[in-house]
Amino acid sequence: MNDLKVPRHVAIIMDGNGRWAQQRGLKRTKGHQKGADTLKTISEYVYDKGVEVLSVFAFSTENWKRDKEEVDYLMNLFIKAFKENFEVIKKKNVKVIFSGLKDRLSKEVLKTMEKMEEETKNNNSGIFNICLNYGGQDEIVNATKRICEKVINNELDIDSLNKTSFEHYLFNELPPIDLVIRTSGEYRISNFMLWQMAYAELYFTDVLWPDFSKKDFDIAINSYTNRDRRFGGIKK
Ligand code: FPP
Repeated sequence: MNDLKVPRHVAIIMDGNGRWAQQRGLKRTKGHQKGADTLKTISEYVYDKGVEVLSVFAFSTENWKRDKEEVDYLMNLFIKAFKENFEVIKKKNVKVIFSGLKDRLSKEVLKTMEKMEEETKNNNSGIFNICLNYGGQDEIVNATKRICEKVINNELDIDSLNKTSFEHYLFNELPPIDLVIRTSGEYRISNFMLWQMAYAELYFTDVLWPDFSKKDFDIAINSYTNRDRRFGGIKK
């Protein structure tokens, strides 16, 4: 049972891998490698705390601008991490889904993603939403195009469209985000899940993602627990 004081949907902007590596005189890719270990630890932890959905920002549509070496490294890291984390995710009965555009991703990355989705599709103890080649504005434009197509083909009555039915056209239909965590001391949302975070509580920490621990996650949850969520209303 989900305690109301526990966020149902947590979204994490995993920032600071590059700086973590640079501070140690290492290549940026070492930071991503350590960041993948952190993600493994945190993704195995959150569902035990009562969280139902974990969304993470793995690769944005803007991240293609990085050096080819870093992009290639990240893509190979995804394949490796998805394969290695697979057994734990399956054991936890968590369903893995991906949000983002499919273009530009290699056949091997797509194959690994499809395999993870297929093999966990009946799991029902939680959802792990990995945003890869993702942009929040793209998601909304993409949904709008699909809706326009339906209207043009007389398959959708425009008057029937509302906030709830719009969500059907997003990459995935997910509950609203309750808590957004961004690491590394940056105070931005960077085009992440714009629709879903409309009423989310925002939590920023200076900790760099590779150093982010279970304890840091607990601190974020405690901060959320003490917030006063009014959703535009007035506290009675
Ligand atoms: C942002 O840090 C991080 C990324 C662009 C990549 C996130 C990827 C991981 C955590 C690796 C594992 C992911 C999966 C899904 C297996 P940055 O490079 O922008 O850091 P900086 O701001 O310090 O340069």
